[in-house]
Amino acid sequence: MRNLIAANWKMHFDIDEAENTAKQMANSLKFTEIDVAVCANFIHLDRLNTVFSKTGIKLGAQNMYFEEKGAYTGEVSPVMLKSVGCEYVIIGHSERRHIFGETDELINKKIKSAKSHNLKPILCVGETLKEREDAKAFDVIARQIKEGLDGVDAEDVVIAYEPVWAIGTGVVADRNTIEEIHAFVRQIVGNLPILYGGSVKPSNAEQLASIKDVNGFLVGGASLVVEDFKSLIEKFIKIKGED
Ligand code: 13P
Repeated sequence: MRNLIAANWKMHFDIDEAENTAKQMANSLKFTEIDVAVCANFIHLDRLNTVFSKTGIKLGAQNMYFEEKGAYTGEVSPVMLKSVGCEYVIIGHSERRHIFGETDELINKKIKSAKSHNLKPILCVGETLKEREDAKAFDVIARQIKEGLDGVDAEDVVIAYEPVWAIGTGVVADRNTIEEIHAFVRQIVGNLPILYGGSVKPSNAEQLASIKDVNGFLVGGASLVVEDFKSLIEKFIKIKGED
């Protein structure tokens, strides 16, 4: 299994800022030990495809609709993502689930559609603080994975464990929590890569990389600053090397 560190730029950058950041990444991220991907906003993808074309950096989207085309105003299809060079697509990010009301059923349709168009889905799972306090974290994560992957040939699927309470808060999940959830997810998904996401930074990347069953990161805020993103990748590689 190859380790993966993916940037999730969320709704940041205008087109010039995105292109400039991508150019800096193209010049400074030349890692061969692991896969590195940038999941950018839809409007950035075409330009980033050009910038990354002769680099090892892979391109991803942050969402998609499951239909190929038709009267779905405002949506973006897997065919469109392929046409601008995407290899990955994040599906079921907690912001999609909690702000935009995405259900496990919808997420399952998106995963199936992504797979049938040769896009590698990064399926995000994770419990809210309330669910953790109510001792429901394992049930929630098992349900999100089982329903998300129902009827799916899971080859090429990547799982990202992102505890909702650790996203964008600066509060990283503690070692025991991550270890126990990743071990639990491993039992369900076998040898699929399992990323950790939630306040990953250069200052905690070594610690996080040293946790068993952490096969990479999904990085929000720290991926917007090239030096920080580069540094946390270097720290991950220092600990995990090439698997
Ligand atoms: P932060 O790294 O900003 O906490 O975001 C994590 C995330 O949601 C990545 O998908």
